[in-house]
Amino acid sequence: MRGLALDLRAHPHVRMRDDLSFPSPKAGEVRVRVTHSTINGHEFALAREPLLRLLAWLRRAPGEVRTGLEFAGIVDTDGLEFKAGDAVMGYVDMIAGWRPHAEYVAIPEAYLAPAPAGMPLAQASTLPMSGLTALVALREVARVQPGQRVLIVGASGGVGVMAIQIARILGAEVTALASSRHHASLAKLGAARCVDYRETPISALQGSFDAILDFSSTLRLAELAHLLTPEGVFIPADPIRNLGDVLRSRRARWLMVDRGDGPRLRELGAWVEAGELVSVVSETFAFGDWEQAVARSHERGRLGRTVLELANA
Ligand SMILES: NC(=O)c1ccc[n+]([C@@H]2O[C@H](COP(=O)([O-])OP(=O)(O)OC[C@H]3O[C@@H](n4cnc5c(N)ncnc54)[C@H](OP(=O)(O)O)[C@@H]3O)[C@@H](O)[C@H]2O)c1
Repeated sequence: MRGLALDLRAHPHVRMRDDLSFPSPKAGEVRVRVTHSTINGHEFALAREPLLRLLAWLRRAPGEVRTGLEFAGIVDTDGLEFKAGDAVMGYVDMIAGWRPHAEYVAIPEAYLAPAPAGMPLAQASTLPMSGLTALVALREVARVQPGQRVLIVGASGGVGVMAIQIARILGAEVTALASSRHHASLAKLGAARCVDYRETPISALQGSFDAILDFSSTLRLAELAHLLTPEGVFIPADPIRNLGDVLRSRRARWLMVDRGDGPRLRELGAWVEAGELVSVVSETFAFGDWEQAVARSHERGRLGRTVLELANA
């Protein structure tokens, strides 16, 4: 099968190959024909990270493909819950699973949910990792309550656009920090107030927030503590970079969403079907144009997620 294989001895490290091993599902898994998978700039750096490669080796991660996290596609084998032909969306095990920048993945059924009815699979592929991360950050880590004020930094990115909408669904009042070119779109998603980070850096921002989520992965607790209410919490998207804050202060919280979660994915799907949650696709690239897609995912100024189309739905 075709896929983007990682080979650290070669340059560039990622190459398209057409001779990759075909995944065989184990007990509790199904094989999915991937039609769409998102690309985000961070995962190519993560794929080269020595600690993650060691963990993947220790956990016997299968396959040469080490990129691709969230995807949508068509189930290809019968499982207990899903049957061949079902349209699904999912988020793999970030360390130990097959990766979906390939034509097929084998994946535990528990990491999947039905693709939302009526939503094209290209759009459904942007929900699983981004939506789950935003949902867990807001509801389980920050424990956001109706009427609370939430600041989302990096609000125009793949996770940020989900976080704005889910915070609004949870009843919060959202302030979005993002480039002004996206403010009208972010207001439509539910941001009550939008601020351009180039005009108003975090040090000059006014306000008081019950939760600050940083999806730009640039901030430290010390530079935003003045914006938190006495019980307010800071949730950095990169907890390793902010490990000192997370270990030293109860105000900085650990966030790590590293695999699919069927029940929560179904919640996201229900919100889509109720018209409360939409997918934001920045651009879609054919699988053959993967190099352009990777280059684009590293550029700043996008709104939402870059999608790779591996096959027709
Ligand atoms: N902890 C977890 O469980 C978990 C799970 C998933 C993802 N993540 C992490 O979440 C982060 C966000 O992921 P993503 O996919 O949403 O990334 P993304 O699509 O690249 O979005 C990043 C956002 O940050 C903004 N940004 C970048 N540099 C900035 C700066 N210096 N000041 C202000 N804003 C800046 C970008 O705006 P511009 O384009 O205008 O620059 C963009 O809106 C990544 O670090 C990812 O690794 C964590």
